[in-house]
Formats: sequence, structure tokens, C-alpha cells
Amino acid sequence: MLVLAIESSCDETAVAIVRDATVVCSSVISSQVQLHAPFGGVVPEIASRAHLEQIQPLLSEALREASVELDDIGAFAATEGPGLAGALIVGVAAAKTLALVFDKPYVGVNHHEGHLYAALLQEPQLLAPFMALVVSGGHTMIVDVRAFGDYRIVGRTVDDAAGEAFDKVARFCGLGYPGGPIIDRLAANGDPNLVRLPRPMLNDGYDFSFSGLKTAVVRFKQDNPGVAIEDLAAGFQAAAVDVLCTKLLRATEAASYDTVVVVGGVAANSGLRQEIVARCEVTDVRCVLADRHLCTDNAAMIAAAASGQLARLGPTDLSAPARPGLRLS
Ligand code: KG4
Ligand code: ZN
Repeated sequence: MLVLAIESSCDETAVAIVRDATVVCSSVISSQVQLHAPFGGVVPEIASRAHLEQIQPLLSEALREASVELDDIGAFAATEGPGLAGALIVGVAAAKTLALVFDKPYVGVNHHEGHLYAALLQEPQLLAPFMALVVSGGHTMIVDVRAFGDYRIVGRTVDDAAGEAFDKVARFCGLGYPGGPIIDRLAANGDPNLVRLPRPMLNDGYDFSFSGLKTAVVRFKQDNPGVAIEDLAAGFQAAAVDVLCTKLLRATEAASYDTVVVVGGVAANSGLRQEIVARCEVTDVRCVLADRHLCTDNAAMIAAAASGQLARLGPTDLSAPARPGLRLS
């Protein structure tokens, strides 16, 4: 069974075709980074218009790459939320139209659940239960995955998402947008021990706070204008990574699970990847890290989630709207 999925929740337009839930036949992405960069962040109106322009060429490209026709597709899916309302509507309307015209099921997918399914694309044999860190530009949460479709949020950020903190720190330092990959590159050439920054709420449960850490970076730079940007980036990244890993493994131990999964855009971060792998080795926990291209927003993960959802719950009604504030559980 082939599922074609569209992702348009934020600033990436993506289309993918996935066979039997786990085989990626094609996955194409058009990033809007260049359009939003002059504004230092995503401009919702620009995002919606760019999705509208990109969706048709991307559909053709995805079909061509997979060597299939629209007639061969068994279900059409789209991210229904959370995300920017005007951006979500573009993907949802396109998927519903295709479902209607070709008389096939429509599946509206939760973007967070899509991120979780990236782990299944990475490792098709992955079995729940496991503890997952979903860490992106809009959200940071620890999810107890008792089964695919059965989620309990164990911890979440009380202020900024981790990716948002990376982006804001980069913007403050005049490094460009999006900040995550830039800080990642700079940190690789810095000393993480030269700039010692706070680890907010480190010893306190499973929730996160990144706003104070961001402010600490700003203050440090104001007080030490000569600090090497590489060392500041490395110090910031080390603090964020320390908190993310500590809390994920604390939750894993409390649940007596033997597997952790790390997904979402920030899961592409080299420091986070190295640190979680190292700590899992010490604690004898299995770590499933999605490849970088599956961590950042893509439609293959949405197609995989749609396949699972279709099998569990059946199609989504065509009257279901886009849901900008959709939550995971
Ligand atoms: O999952 P994603 O593509 O979109 C959302 O659902 O938000 O995540 C985007 C976020 C951005 O904040 C971006 O700066 C961050 O992921 N990011 C990274 C890296 N690559 C992307 N953060 C740290 N290091 C990276 N290598
Ligand atoms: Zn995302």
C-alpha cells in the first residue's frame, strides 16, 4: 500500500511516498529558509504563499522519483497540526482534494506523531514501549510511548523550545537563521568548558526551561564582548544538551525502559547525538537516533505515521479541519 503525504506545518514544503509504512519510495523537500532569513524567523504569510507555489511541483517530483502515478496511491495524508494555520491549510486542502478526486482515504496526521514515526523509518523493527525526546523548533517534550498511538507526555518545556533557544541565541549573536545548524558548526570548533552556563531545572523532574539559558548567553556576551563565538556556542550547546540528556535518561530509568528515541529538528545536533549515544552506552540503554534528514521536518515521517493511523483508526473525515493547536495525547 502506497501512502502519499504532504507536510506544510511551518517553513518546509515536503511531499513523500512511503510503501507499507516503512519503505521510503520518494521524499522531496523545498525549504523556505532563504525567504524567511531576512526577517530572522518564519513569517506566516510568506510561508503560506510559498507552500501554495511549491506544492504542485513537489507532488510531480515525488511521483516521478517513486516511479508511480497518482492512481497507484492508496491514501493521501497531510499534517493537520500543530503549526501555522495558513500553512497547514495548504497541505490539508491538497491532500483532501486528491483523496476526493481519486476516491481514496484521507489521513490527517499530528506533526509530533510524525516525528516519532521517523524512528520507525530508521529502525522498522523498533518496538514500544520506549521513552522519546521530541525536540524541535516549536516543541520540546519527553514522551512515554507505550505503543504507537498510545502516548503520555512526561515532560515539556515551560517556556522556549530547545530549537527556539538555538535560533534566538544565534539571532542575538548576529549569526543568521536558522540558528541550530550554525551553532552546531561553531560549537564543533569551540571549548565547551570555557563558558560555563546554567543548566536550568537540571535536578528538578522532567520539564525543561530554556529561556533562562538563552538570557544567560546574552548576559555573558554583554559582560565578555571579547569571548570567542565558538566557545560561547559550545558552552550554550553543552548546557542545552546536558539538560536534554539528563531528563530523558531520568524518565527512561523511572519507567524501567531499555530504549530511548531522539527525534525532531534539534536531534540533528552533533553535540546531542554524541552525548546521548555516550550516556546510553554507560547506562546500557539502547538509543535510536533517526538520520539527520529524518529529524528535521519531512513528509516521509508523516506518511509513515499516516500508515499506522490508517491501520489503527481508519481514515480521517474530509470535514476535519487543520488544527494549529493540536496536542499529542
Ligand atoms: O523539527 P523541525 O525541522 O521543525 C519544527 O517542527 O519545529 O525543527 C526545526 C528546529 C529549528 O529550531 C532549528 O534551528 C533546529 O531544529 N535545528 C538544529 C539543528 N538542525 C536544526 N538545532 C541544533 N542543531 C542542529 N544541527
Ligand atoms: Zn517538526
